[in-house]
Amino acid sequence: MIKIAPSILSADFTRLSDEIESVKTADYLHFDVMDGLFVPNITIGLPVLESVRRVTDMTLDVHLMIQSPARYTARFAEAGADIVVFHVETEPPENVLPALNEIRELGKKAGLSIKPQTPWEALIPYIDALDIILVMTVEPGFGGQQFMPDMLPKIEALRRVIDLRSLTCELEVDGGINPETAALCVQAGANVLVAGSDIFGAPDRAARISQLREAQ
Ligand code: DX5
Ligand code: ZN
Repeated sequence: MIKIAPSILSADFTRLSDEIESVKTADYLHFDVMDGLFVPNITIGLPVLESVRRVTDMTLDVHLMIQSPARYTARFAEAGADIVVFHVETEPPENVLPALNEIRELGKKAGLSIKPQTPWEALIPYIDALDIILVMTVEPGFGGQQFMPDMLPKIEALRRVIDLRSLTCELEVDGGINPETAALCVQAGANVLVAGSDIFGAPDRAARISQLREAQ
């Protein structure tokens, strides 16, 4: 089944509780954390996550776009994340597995993300410890960018590895997702679709979530 993860980066933060309510038929709620260092933008962090946790039972999918994320992974898990994903580019290799294990020991799902220029092979050393892989289909930092079709072979390659090894790891895509690009990603093997501007910009968000879920 295809899962949909609306990104609250495109929500109206002055009425965040209502905005979350408007997408509650989705599967995950995607929460983008940026530090102005790993990416050229600053967004939301721990206090907002704690507040969001109090108003929704949705699965909170936290996407850390910050340098040295291992400093904070446990704090995000404890603040209410259900899934904590960080970028493989942001920690030296020896720190990656301990950070993933720490998240899982706290009872949360752990994942790694890759930027467009990072090859999919960078994930292979950690693949057995991953509950989810997040393939960026735009340069991380901002909502509303154009989908990069060059990322489709990367999604296909990761799907092949997951299936060959019979892993339960989910394969998520993030950036420029709309009904058309959603179909391309599903055909390539993605099973979780993040969408920010497309869902929050739709006149009927629940209908858009259903439409994206049926993309193929
Ligand atoms: C971008 C973020 C995305 C962003 C997606 O760096 O990771 O989650 O919200 O926005 P859209 O769907 O508008 O491309
Ligand atoms: Zn994201």
